[in-house]
Amino acid sequence: MEAFPALSIQSGRQVMPHKRLDILAGKGFVILNLAGEEIHPAEWASVAYHDWKSGGDTNFAVLASAVGDEDPHGFWEHGKPDKDGVWTPAVKQSPSLRRWVEDAGTRFGRVRIIKLQPSPSYDEVISTYLHLDDNNRLNRDGEGWVVRAWLNLTDDPDSFMIVREDRDDPATESRIPLPKGAQFVVDTERLWHAVYHPGPRPRYAVITSFESGPQLQRWIERNQS
Ligand SMILES: [Fe+2]
Repeated sequence: MEAFPALSIQSGRQVMPHKRLDILAGKGFVILNLAGEEIHPAEWASVAYHDWKSGGDTNFAVLASAVGDEDPHGFWEHGKPDKDGVWTPAVKQSPSLRRWVEDAGTRFGRVRIIKLQPSPSYDEVISTYLHLDDNNRLNRDGEGWVVRAWLNLTDDPDSFMIVREDRDDPATESRIPLPKGAQFVVDTERLWHAVYHPGPRPRYAVITSFESGPQLQRWIERNQS
């Protein structure tokens, strides 16, 4: 990480760039070791899912939100950057998932479980679902850049997250495998992304927003072999 990021000038005022991790500078993502902890399926199967479409036929359970209600909308609608998430009542069903987020030791924003129905085809995922996230709205100058981290809950060995530097250039594509326990961090405001999931059952995964900084760096290092 850059300890002292340089100032730049925008519209006549000095702007301190957001702090970013060197480890994400090259490819924009990092794949970690498989999670060691066995998580009981009740932690994701017995929570309430809301209809919310993002990157496919999806539903979301909201474990942490801007003000602690189960609202999947962006934090900016409450005047907050995607940080300092407040646990919702739903997280009582998911203590291991809460621990997974808190174990990183960095500021987190939204925490959700995604339930993704099987994809129609790889081509349709590319043409319809590739997108960039809006993670850094209201993120103050000089603070840590917000990235996303995943924990795959179901075992989906034929599924993968597609990430592309250039949406329309397949040569820039990488594929992140999604076995049970897959953990990875993606700068999803930089990389176009979507999951290809052939099924046949829904895929479940935890998604959270993490602030880049020394804590996230250490968590990544602890989870790399
Ligand atoms: Fe996304």
